[in-house]
Amino acid sequence: MKPVVVVAGTRPEIIKMAPIIRALNKEKLPFLFVHCGQHYDYNMSQQFIENLELAAPDYSLKIESSSPGAQTAEIMMKMDQLLEKIEPSIVLVEGDTNTVLSAALAANKRAIPIGHVEAGLRSFDLRMPEEHNRRLTDHISDYLFTPTENAKANLIKENVWGKIYLTGNTAIDAVIQHLPIAEKKSTIMEKIPFKTFALATAHRAENVDDVAFLESFMEVFSKSPLPIVYPMHPRTKKRLQENNMLSQMEKMKNVLILPPLGYLDFLVLMKNCSLIITDSGGIQEEATAPGIRKRVLVIRLSTERQEAVDAGFAKIVGTDKNNILVAMHQALEKEQKLPSASPFGDGTAAVKTVDVIKKDFA
Ligand code: UD1
Ligand code: UDP
Repeated sequence: MKPVVVVAGTRPEIIKMAPIIRALNKEKLPFLFVHCGQHYDYNMSQQFIENLELAAPDYSLKIESSSPGAQTAEIMMKMDQLLEKIEPSIVLVEGDTNTVLSAALAANKRAIPIGHVEAGLRSFDLRMPEEHNRRLTDHISDYLFTPTENAKANLIKENVWGKIYLTGNTAIDAVIQHLPIAEKKSTIMEKIPFKTFALATAHRAENVDDVAFLESFMEVFSKSPLPIVYPMHPRTKKRLQENNMLSQMEKMKNVLILPPLGYLDFLVLMKNCSLIITDSGGIQEEATAPGIRKRVLVIRLSTERQEAVDAGFAKIVGTDKNNILVAMHQALEKEQKLPSASPFGDGTAAVKTVDVIKKDFA
C-alpha cells in the first residue's frame, strides 16, 4: 500500500489528527505525517506533538508568507513538491484552515484522492475564511468524514461528489484518550489563584481584527461576575499590542493571562472551570465530551456546531458586551442539566475513518 499522508498545520489540526495517527499505527498502515508550518511557535505546534505523544513529523514545512493568500499559495506549492515525491494513496486533511484548502488543492491537482476529516460543517457566515475553506475542500474531496447527521445533510444538500461517512468528531476521541493522562500529569491548577473561574479564549479573525470587539471583550473582563483565566492566542496578543490594550488587560486583577497552553493543561482547565467563553470551534466540541461537560458562551454571531447549542451545552451570545455579561450572569445563576453523551460522537471517529481507508486502499 502507498502511504497515507496525514496533514496538519495548526494547533487544532494536530489535536484532531492525533487519534487518526494512533488508529493508523494500530492497523499498521503506512503513513507520513506532514506539518505544514502555518502555526510555527513551539507553543502552537511542537508542544502538541509532545503532549499527544506523536512521533516527530516526517516533513515539517517552513512558511514565510503571512498574508492569507500568499500563505495558502506557499503551502500549496510546497505540498505539491512533496506529493510528487511521496505519491501517496490518499491525503487526509482536517477542518477548515488555510492549510486544509492548500493541501487539498495540491492533492487535487495531482489527482490524488482527498479525505476530509470533519467535513460538512457550515456556519453560513461568509465573513469567515474558514467557511470558504471548508466548502471548497468538501467539493474536491473524495472521502467526506462527517461528525454528525446535520453535517452529512449539509453535504447531501450541496451535492458533493465524494463518498460520505458518518464517523463522529475526532475531538471527542482525543478528549477521551487524553483526559485521564492530563489529570495525572498537568500541574496547571497550582498556577490558578482563583477558586472558581471562567475559562476564556478568542482568536477568530472577524472578532480580534476588529477594535470594537477587543473593546467589548476588555469590558466583559473588567465587569465579569467571576475571575477569568485567559490563555492568549498569538493573533490576539498581536492585535491587543497594536491597539495599546495589552498592558491595560494585564493590570486587571481578576484576569489571569497565560500563554497558549498545552493540550493537557487546557483539558484540566476545561474540566475545572465554571463556564467557558470562547469563539473557538474545537472548544465547543470538547465542552460536550464525557469528563468535561461544560456550558459554553460562544462569542460569535453564528456557529457551525449547532449540535452543541441544540444539546444545551452552547449558547450563541454575539459580541456585544452587555449581552455577553447578561449571558454570564444567567449561566451562573441557573444550573442546566447537560446530556451525558456528546452530540459529536462516542470517541470512535478515528477508528471508523481508518477502517474506511483500510478497506479501500490496503
Ligand atoms: C488559524 C485558522 C483558524 C483556526 C486557528 C487555530 C485560517 C484562516 N485560520 O487562525 O481557522 O481556528 O488557526 O488556532 O487558517 N501567529 C504566531 N505564531 C504562530 C501562529 C500564528 O505568532 O505560531 C500569529 C502571526 O502573527 C500570524 C497570526 O498569528 O500572522 C495569525 O495566524 P494564522 O495561522 O494566519 O491564523 P490564526 O488566527 O492562527
Ligand atoms: N487549546 C489548547 N491550548 C490553549 C487553547 C486551546 O490546547 O491555550 C486547544 C483546545 O483544547 C482545542 C484547540 O486547541 O482542542 C482549539 O484550537 P483553536 O481554538 O485555536 O482553534 P479552532 O478549534 O477554533 O479552529
